[in-house]
Amino acid sequence: MASAALIIRACEPVVCCDTVWEQAYLRFESPEAERKKFRRRLQRLGAHSWLREARIVEIFCGRGNGLAALAELGFHALEGVDLSLRLLSQYEGDAKLYVADCRQLPFPDASRDLVIVQGGLHHLPCIPGDLAAVLAEVRRVLVPGGRFVIVEPWLTPFLRAVHALSRHPLVRRLSRKFAALDTMIEREQETYFNWLSMPDVILQALSGNFATERRRIAWGKLEYVGICD
Ligand SMILES: C[S@@+](CC[C@H](N)C(=O)[O-])C[C@H]1O[C@@H](n2cnc3c(N)ncnc32)[C@H](O)[C@@H]1O
Repeated sequence: MASAALIIRACEPVVCCDTVWEQAYLRFESPEAERKKFRRRLQRLGAHSWLREARIVEIFCGRGNGLAALAELGFHALEGVDLSLRLLSQYEGDAKLYVADCRQLPFPDASRDLVIVQGGLHHLPCIPGDLAAVLAEVRRVLVPGGRFVIVEPWLTPFLRAVHALSRHPLVRRLSRKFAALDTMIEREQETYFNWLSMPDVILQALSGNFATERRRIAWGKLEYVGICD
């Protein structure tokens, strides 16, 4: 059923979005599996200690399963930002959604308590320039003491093994999930491998903008929580 979510167009939905990539992303995991993964992850990142009234923005929110997971954990002041109107339209829930570029967030200064990104920064075309732009925007909209929560791919031995498996024709034939992953990586390879090739630059940018509360690198992911001064 079509979403009744409120979607605000803060910018024109530019022709940004690759239909082949989006179809693979939608095939990769069911919404239920994705929400379960997000709930577990958010708890690990400290969600149990965040105020339930916190004003939370998920940037690069895609079809909004991260927002749904936050709602299931008891948060209700939720907003999402993504460039793809097509993906935002799949969301069913109470969060307010914005079609906008995360390098220019549609929120006033010091107006939000938490900003979350799960698998979005590696889509930025230019690192470190675009990353600096997003970090500056996140700092601008967060209140002092607000948190920036990040989960992004990271080139660990586990991720190298996943890449090798997803490229293998037999694995792709036997697993819809690996097949979808292979298509996503192929379509986003330029930004994805650019992101993976710059761990030091990225960590330096994060620690230059936020006080690190938590940093964990494992299983092909960076999990980071920074506090805004
Ligand atoms: C891998 S998806 C992640 C979606 C969601 N966070 C999740 O984990 O399911 C990346 C998303 O970033 C969006 N995106 C890419 N560049 C963007 C930008 N500059 N501003 C806003 N959204 C962007 C894409 O439309 C896509 O929905």
